[in-house]
Order: sequence, then structure tokens, then C-alpha cells
Amino acid sequence: MSGKTMTGKVLELATSRKTVRKFSAKQVSMDDILYALETARQAPSGANGQPWRFIIITEPDLKKRIRDASEKAERALYTKVKGDFKDWLLNHGLSHEKPFLEEAPLLIAVLMNPSAMYAKESIWTAIGHLLLALEERGLSTITYTPSNTNLPLAELDAPQGLKLEAILPVGYSDDETPKEPKKDLEEIAFMNRWGVKPTPPHSRA
Ligand SMILES: Cc1cc2nc3c(=O)[nH]c(=O)nc-3n(C[C@H](O)[C@H](O)[C@H](O)COP(=O)(O)O)c2cc1C
Repeated sequence: MSGKTMTGKVLELATSRKTVRKFSAKQVSMDDILYALETARQAPSGANGQPWRFIIITEPDLKKRIRDASEKAERALYTKVKGDFKDWLLNHGLSHEKPFLEEAPLLIAVLMNPSAMYAKESIWTAIGHLLLALEERGLSTITYTPSNTNLPLAELDAPQGLKLEAILPVGYSDDETPKEPKKDLEEIAFMNRWGVKPTPPHSRA
């Protein structure tokens, strides 16, 4: 790949973004959050079903209840987990404790209408938009996927039938952990057939 094609605003945001699990106490502007949700709203979705709904959670008591509900289920998961996933969790210092659910100035609960077409794929496309928009505004997050979504969902008075897909604590990073390594482009992208390196148009025969 030539160096010129490997520059651009979206790539810069995607590269600088990383998962953050420690947040400073600095407050977040609601304008930035609404900007990010407006960006998520523009995402494509199966049959334009737009299965996403968002609840912005700012009340400290509610954040605590969501943390308690989430940790209750995580405790059960962490006693059961085995193999590579267990090693990965231990290597990353992760446990059933989820302090970021209280420490982040706010949470965005991402709810999904599961009867929409391709609901899950669509939700995660919107979350991808949201992550880059937060990054653009200098904000960080973690796509926390509770191991039992029913417990935190019960705190939110959401209409019947909606599912909780993720909780995104949002704030300014206080996390020095480096971004996780990514596979090289050569390892994941091919042209016409498996194993053939993509070539820029000008060098094609
Ligand atoms: C679908 C999805 C679910 C995730 N769930 C969790 C989670 O429940 N807890 C957690 O600590 N991180 C979670 N993560 C964050 C990943 O661990 C993280 O994205 C990955 O290690 C790569 O690191 P990076 O985001 O810094 O590039 C999740 C990420 C995705 C995309």
C-alpha cells in the first residue's frame, strides 16, 4: 500500500481510539454526547429497521444500581470461565468488578429491538459510528457487554421487548493501558483470491 492512501480523518480516529476502563472525574458535555448519538443515528441498518435506542445515564444512584446489577452476573461468569478467555481476562487484569460503571461521568445504555431485521449487526454498526464520534470529541469509552443483560436492563424502565445490548461508560481517559495490537492488513485483506496481496489500481496490469 502506498503511504498516501493510508492517511485520512477516519483512519486517524480509528487508530487513536482504544478501549478505556479508567475515567477521570471531568464532566462531559451533553452536546458531545448528542453529537455522538446523532452520528450513530446515521448508521445503515437491515431494511432501515433502526433497531437502536439509547438511554443516557447521569444519576449517580442509578449508575451504582447498574454496576451492582452487572457485577452480580459477572461474579457468576468469572467463577465459570475457562481456557483462553480466562487467560486473556487474567492477563488484562480484568475481574468481575466493573468500577467504570460508576466512575465514568455518564453511561450510554444501548437498547435493541430484536425483532428488527439484522438487529444485532445493525446495532453494532451504529456503535461503531458512535465510538468514532466520541473519539472525535476527545472522549473515550468501553463497549461493555454485561454477561446478564436482564439485571441492568431492569433498572431502566424500558418498554417490554427491548434488549440491552451494551453499556458504554463515557468520559475522559485516565487509562494508560496501550491499545491492543491489531493484525497487519496483509494478514486480513486479499484481492480476488485468498492469499493475494491487494495492489493499488495504478500498478495493476
Ligand atoms: C462486541 C464487543 C464486546 C466487548 N465486551 C467487553 C466487555 O464486556 N468487557 C470489557 O472489558 N471489554 C469488552 N470489549 C472491549 C474489547 O476487549 C476491546 O475492544 C479489545 O480488547 C480491543 O481493544 P481496543 O478496543 O483497545 O482496540 C468488547 C468489545 C466488543 C467489540
